[in-house]
This record gives sequence, C-alpha cells and structure tokens, in this order.
Amino acid sequence: MVANAGLAGGKTVLAPADMPWQITRDIFQINLLGAIATFTPFLRPMLQRGRGQLVAISSLSADIGIAPAAAYCASKAGLTQYMQALDQDLRPRGVPVTLIHPGFVRTPAIDDLQTAMPMMFELDDALDIIERAITGKRRLTRFPWILGLLYRLVWMLPGAVRDPMIRLALSAASKSGK
Ligand SMILES: NC(=O)c1ccc[n+]([C@@H]2O[C@H](COP(=O)([O-])OP(=O)(O)OC[C@H]3O[C@@H](n4cnc5c(N)ncnc54)[C@H](OP(=O)(O)O)[C@@H]3O)[C@@H](O)[C@H]2O)c1
Repeated sequence: MVANAGLAGGKTVLAPADMPWQITRDIFQINLLGAIATFTPFLRPMLQRGRGQLVAISSLSADIGIAPAAAYCASKAGLTQYMQALDQDLRPRGVPVTLIHPGFVRTPAIDDLQTAMPMMFELDDALDIIERAITGKRRLTRFPWILGLLYRLVWMLPGAVRDPMIRLALSAASKSGK
C-alpha cells in the first residue's frame, strides 16, 4: 500500500503570517492524516497474513523546518515519525515500512513553485529510485543523497547559526528570481 497523495507546490509556500488557516489545515489533513487514514485499514489484515508493505512518500522537507513551508515540513516530519514508529512494530512481523524522502521532482506540483529547486530530478529517474527502495524493502531512502545530507547537517547546527543561513539562502533565491 503506497500513500503518495499530497498537497505540495506553490500553494503550500507562503510566509507563516500570510498563510490562510484553511490551507494549513488542508496540508495536515492530506499529507499527514490522509496518509495515516490510508494505511490504517490495512494494518490488521497484513499482520494476520504476515506479509505486506507500507510505503509513504514523505519528503526531504521532513528533515528541515523552513518558515515559508512550515506546515508542509511539519506534515511530512509527522508522517515520517509515524511511519518509522510503525516500522518498529510491523517489520519484525512481516510488514516492512518504506519511507521515501524525495528532493525536487519534476511533477505538476512544482509548476507554480517560486523557490530555488536545486538538483531537480526527472520523474523517471525518481521512479527508478523509488522502485528500488520498495523492492529492497528499504527503511528510508533520501534522494538526491547529497541534498539529504546537506539538509540534515544544516538542521544539526545551533539555531543561532542555522536560521540566519536559511534566511540568507531564501533571500538569495528570491533575489535571483527563483
Ligand atoms: N514533486 C516534488 O518535488 C516532491 C518532492 C517531495 C515530496 N513530494 C511528495 O510526492 C507526493 C506526490 O506529489 P507530486 O509531486 O506528484 O504532486 P502532484 O503532481 O500535485 O500530485 C499530487 C497527487 O495527490 C493527489 N491528491 C491531492 N490531494 C488529494 C486528496 N485530498 N485526496 C486524494 N488525492 C489527492 C492528487 O490527485 P488529483 O490529481 O486527483 O488531484 C495527485 O495525484 C506528495 O506526497 C508530495 O508531497 C513531491
């Protein structure tokens, strides 16, 4: 069972004070609650059969909180934590959980995204990686790995260093018209 549906793209990126509550609510409703609702009916039957697999398309955004995408990042971080916790319980009983953390992938979601999108993946390349992760029953696959590593390293910095760096990167991206 793959939970892929998500609210992403330009609609989900706005200064926190300008973000309408309805959109914040929809982001959590679709990206977090929708995914959990998708999996829930399958848990008991999969465990009874002793086989099955759950796959969640989360995001590299789960690894780092960025102000203009606060709700999106938090919804994906919540999904990732939930699925990793499920995996502890389900994998030893024959139902592995696979998390995918993509960076930027060329899909309709990014058409209206006005941010920098480094290391963009074409859809077919992304699908190859996702397929390998699923068939290999991997726990967590991040791609591109270098962006995944960078996000995690930046997030580990003290806030006093990290946050000005993130602000600078966002402002450089907006000045370059991205
Ligand atoms: N593209 C990226 O760069 C990127 C990066 C990281 C993670 N992701 C994640 O990848 C997943 C797929 O995104 P995408 O890039 O393919 O975006 P997309 O092109 O906007 O597709 C989103 C999909 O989610 C479905 N969906 C949205 N709201 C729904 C709802 N309330 N109920 C049922 N289905 C709903 C849409 O169905 P309809 O077409 O019927 O509306 C569509 O099939 C998302 O979880 C996204 O967060 C994408």
